[in-house]
Amino acid sequence: MTRPTADTPAVHILHENEEWIPPLAAALDAAGVAHREWPLTGGSIDLSAEPPHGVFWSRLSASSHTRGHEHAKEQARAVLRWLESWGRRVVNGSRAVELEVSKAAQYTALRAAGFEVPHTVVVFGTGDLKARARELPLPFITKHNQGGKGLGVRRFDTLAEFDAYVDGPEFEHPVDGITLLQEYVVTAAPFVTRAEFVGGRFVYAVEVDTSAGSFELCPAEACAVPEPGAVAEPAGLFRERVEVSAEHPLVVALEAFLAEQGVEVAGVEFFETADGRTLPYDINTNTNYSPDVEAVTSRSAAAALARFLGAELAAVSAVAA
Ligand SMILES: Nc1ncnc2c1ncn2[C@@H]1O[C@H](COP(=O)(O)OP(=O)(O)OP(=O)(O)O)[C@@H](O)[C@H]1O
Ligand SMILES: [Mg+2]
Repeated sequence: MTRPTADTPAVHILHENEEWIPPLAAALDAAGVAHREWPLTGGSIDLSAEPPHGVFWSRLSASSHTRGHEHAKEQARAVLRWLESWGRRVVNGSRAVELEVSKAAQYTALRAAGFEVPHTVVVFGTGDLKARARELPLPFITKHNQGGKGLGVRRFDTLAEFDAYVDGPEFEHPVDGITLLQEYVVTAAPFVTRAEFVGGRFVYAVEVDTSAGSFELCPAEACAVPEPGAVAEPAGLFRERVEVSAEHPLVVALEAFLAEQGVEVAGVEFFETADGRTLPYDINTNTNYSPDVEAVTSRSAAAALARFLGAELAAVSAVAA
């Protein structure tokens, strides 16, 4: 166990979800990396005061509002700007946060970088929902712009069903008021793929079985923790895709994209469609590494992360010494 004292340089983990920390802390401990938590749930900073030393790793999550932390996003924005203004080493800083909290921002950036993404219409408020739905082929998908955990992800097969949803009590209001309408993607085989990147480098890709039809499947450990009343994820949903290697053209392109976007730790999900398209559709900058996943992969992303953060901490400590 390596616990820093108040003034020793450490890896500061900015987050608002205790549940996700123990496996990450264990990996850092195993690598002998000093770490400390920085809760995004309150507190204060003096903008004229120098921040502590060390490396700052933001794990701001798009779904923070679902845990009663609706201001975590704003806190992360302010704290990261302050840290960056002091030249602190920040991993997944301000720019990563802006991608994390907006799928519209993700798709826009991906498209501008030359990736094909699912056809998506971004609806602000609810006024245009029904009219815009009529421009999409059926079925289509809704999802929240500030998503995570499959928030607001629903499939609609008829317009009547969609109109009733929009007008009825079931409608899930997105926290930022933005709902996405998206083409329903039919994959060539019943799985999606999630590629993990640490320190900007590819670690592994796993396929996630979608044959059960759930929209709330993700390889993140948090997704394996059932919400009250929810159904737990069955085991055996994951398989490493060894053919998706560091040399795979999509992986090469994603590494370049993440570097350009200032994202160093991410899980990127993509579809391979029945009509031959490869479509990235979700960039998770606060990725977790499920033991269920790491049990089937040849490498450990958690260990890679600890090594990466440890090396960054050593580098800033050497400069400070
Ligand atoms: N356009 C689509 N067509 C078909 N299936 C989709 C589509 N969009 C999403 N899904 C399914 O729903 C799941 C959740 O969607 P998405 O990743 O966009 O939401 P999310 O809120 O970020 O979820 P998570 O945090 O679990 O990754 C996807 O992994 C996929 O299985
Ligand atoms: Mg996803």
